[in-house]
Amino acid sequence: MDADHLQRIFDEAVQAHGEGRLDEAEAGFRAVLEVLPHEGEALFGLGLTLMGLRRFSEAIPPLKAAAAEPGAEPVRFLCLAQGLYMTGAFAEAAETFAAVAHQDGFNDGARLTWARSAAYAALDDTDADSALALYGQIAGPVAEDLDTVAREGFSTLVAFERLAAARKLGQWLEARAPDDAIRAHELRVLTDPQIDRAPPAYVEALFDAFAERFDHQLLDNLEYQTPTLLAEMIGVADRRFTHMLDLGCGTGLAGPPLRARVARLTGVDLSTAMLAKAAERGGYDALVHAEAVAFLRETPDRFDLIVAADVFSYLGDLGDILAAAAGALSDDGLLAFSVEQGETWWRLLPSARYAHGDDYVRAAGAGVGLEVIQHRQTPLRRQADAAIPGGLYVLRKIRAA
Ligand SMILES: C[S@@+](CC[C@H](N)C(=O)[O-])C[C@H]1O[C@@H](n2cnc3c(N)ncnc32)[C@H](O)[C@@H]1O
Repeated sequence: MDADHLQRIFDEAVQAHGEGRLDEAEAGFRAVLEVLPHEGEALFGLGLTLMGLRRFSEAIPPLKAAAAEPGAEPVRFLCLAQGLYMTGAFAEAAETFAAVAHQDGFNDGARLTWARSAAYAALDDTDADSALALYGQIAGPVAEDLDTVAREGFSTLVAFERLAAARKLGQWLEARAPDDAIRAHELRVLTDPQIDRAPPAYVEALFDAFAERFDHQLLDNLEYQTPTLLAEMIGVADRRFTHMLDLGCGTGLAGPPLRARVARLTGVDLSTAMLAKAAERGGYDALVHAEAVAFLRETPDRFDLIVAADVFSYLGDLGDILAAAAGALSDDGLLAFSVEQGETWWRLLPSARYAHGDDYVRAAGAGVGLEVIQHRQTPLRRQADAAIPGGLYVLRKIRAA
């Protein structure tokens, strides 16, 4: 390949990156690197492109190589530092930010991520007060409120399974707000793996606080598609339904893809703020503020379709909810739901959600007269720099003999 041709591939890759055609940009930069494996601009372009594709771990080697070039510009260090932060390498991220902190282009955003990286890294060796004091020193006049830093730091450290460090922030937060149901439960989860379900007060507080950002965060940042995927699986049955229950309906993402197939649609949720969002979205005939198991046990209605998208992650032992769902289904009715797919049985995760094994789902369903008619394994959404493995299920209520 001659130099002009290579330059053209490089220029096209840069343009593709600028226009958001990231797959094409990746292919272009890789083509250049095949011929010139140490070309700094192409390494940097590839690293940036992989960051844009949220493949942070893969972005680190090319970004490191690009920053290691003699005379590399500060922007290469800044991108590398950001990538290290996104992969949970907080100490290395802090060192990399520090190396270019006095150079042009070091903005407030970089300073705040540097401060967070340094504080999270410090928690390995020091207490929460000292780590947060370090945060304040580095962030200086642009420092965020420490409660926010500690709250987001707790979730970030849990996501990267840095549990001892997370516990220190959790205890700091609990001491400042002992009545906070969210903090209390998330901290308890790190010490007691036997808890068999998330307390309703926790779920309600968590989603009331999350409702405003839920759709943007799940759809735009976390690549969440469970409601649509479950709707596709249900669609295979090519059936129309008389009454569908959207259990844990949240903001109502499962309503639209199924609405055309159902005559009546009811949503139930513990969070009033999530229900208000579902009401805004529209399409529901009724929205009910209730706990799922209690609702299923008490409702006089019979449903021929119950959908629970990303709801069973808040329950470990599924015995009660499956029995109650079987009771509220009509004969041949379908129950479609997702789980975070674990290896076996059920397990409380540091994220305060539960993972369920395929063996457990099948055994718990069979125990209450629900047979698995479809099962698909697929990533559920992103967490830290990985995707959460998921299991999507459709179960059918076996007709009484
Ligand atoms: C992750 S959101 C998913 C919302 C929606 N199904 C979707 O897929 O977009 C989980 C929802 O389930 C609700 N939820 C969790 N446990 C519940 C329970 N035991 N009873 C009623 N709602 C529950 C939460 O309030 C929250 O709105």
